[in-house]
Amino acid sequence: MTRLGILTGGGDAPGLNAVIRSAVKSAILVHGYEMIGIRNGFEGLLDADGIVPLNLDAVRGILPRGGTILGAANRGNPFARRVIRNGVEVVEDVSDRVVDRIHELELASLLVVGGDGTLRISLELFEKGCPVIGIPKTIDNDVGGTDLSFGFDTAVSIATEAIDRLHTTAEAHHRVMVLELMGRDAGFIALHAGIAGGADVILIPEIPFSFDAVSEKIKARARSGRKFSILSVAEGAFPQGGEKSYRRRRDDAQTARLGGIGRQVGDAVAHTCAMETRVTVLGHLQRGGSPTAFDRWLASRYGAAAVRLAAAGMHGSMVSLQGGVVRHVSLAEALAVPKRVNVHSDAVQTARDMGICMGD
Ligand code: F6P
Repeated sequence: MTRLGILTGGGDAPGLNAVIRSAVKSAILVHGYEMIGIRNGFEGLLDADGIVPLNLDAVRGILPRGGTILGAANRGNPFARRVIRNGVEVVEDVSDRVVDRIHELELASLLVVGGDGTLRISLELFEKGCPVIGIPKTIDNDVGGTDLSFGFDTAVSIATEAIDRLHTTAEAHHRVMVLELMGRDAGFIALHAGIAGGADVILIPEIPFSFDAVSEKIKARARSGRKFSILSVAEGAFPQGGEKSYRRRRDDAQTARLGGIGRQVGDAVAHTCAMETRVTVLGHLQRGGSPTAFDRWLASRYGAAAVRLAAAGMHGSMVSLQGGVVRHVSLAEALAVPKRVNVHSDAVQTARDMGICMGD
C-alpha cells in the first residue's frame, strides 16, 4: 500500500490539526493510502518512537483544536542539529540519517507543514532525493509564493481583540497603550490588527521608525483633545539608524529571541509626551487556541491539495493560495524571496490615508 508521512515543524500555528485531518481523510478516503505521522518535526525521523499511525479515528475531533497532535519543534534542523557532547553544545549534520529513515519508512511522499525555516530544510531534503511536499503555515504570513499561510488570520483576530480591549481602558485612564505583537521580520500582524483595531501608530520592521514622529502623533492627538493613544508594534520593528531589540541574541535566527521594542517605545513616549504609558506583550497568545473559521477552511484546503500533489508525484512543490485559488509553486520559487509587507501596498496606504502614523 502507498504510504504517506506528515510532520509539523517550526513554531505551531492555529490550523495545524485541520491540515493533518484534511490530509489524512483525503489520503485514506480518496486514494486508499496509508498515513503515518512524524512526531516533533524532523526530530521524529531520528527517534525510535517518532512515528505514529494516522487513521480516521486518530483525526476525529481535532479540527477546532489549536496546537498539533504531532508535536512541533523549531530547534530541530537536521542539517545543523544542536546536541550536547561531553557537556559542550555542538552542531551536527544528521541529514543523511533523516534521508535514510524516509527511505526506510518507504514514504511515497512526506508532507511537511512549516514556515520559512522548515520549508528550507524540506527543499534541502528534496535536493537530496526525498519526496517532500510543502504546506505553508506561519502566523507571521512571511512565506513567499503564497498569498496567505494559515494561522495568520487567527493571530490577527486575537491581536485585534487585544487592541479593542486596550482601547477602553486607555480611554478611561487617558493613557498611551503600547501593544507588542509577533512579527520577527514581517509586520503583517501589527499592520492588519492595527488597522482592524483602529490603532493610532503602527510600527513594522519594513518601515524603520523615528521616535520623534511617534511622539509627535501622540502629542497632536492630545492637543486635539484625544488624551489616549494605541500603538500596534511588531516585535521586529526598530528605530531609524538602530537595530532590532532582542531578549536573547544568538547567531542563528531560529534560536534568537526578539523582545523589548514595545518597552523601548513606551519609555520614550512616556518621557517625551509626559503621558502615562503602559506596555502589553501579547506573545504566544497569538499562536494558541482554536483557529478561526477562515484558518480551518484554508488549512483544510491545503491538506487535501497536498495529497493531490502527492498523488500526482509533484515533489519539491508547495501548496499555495493565489488570488483565492489553491495552486502550487516549487519550493525553490516560494523560498527565493521572503515575503514582507509591501510598503507601497494599499494596506499601508490605507493606514496612512486614515491618519495612522507608520513611524516615518
Ligand atoms: O515565526 C513565528 C513566531 O511566532 C515569531 O513571530 C516569533 O518571533 C517566534 O515565532 C517565537 O518563537 P518561539 O515560540 O520559539 O518563542
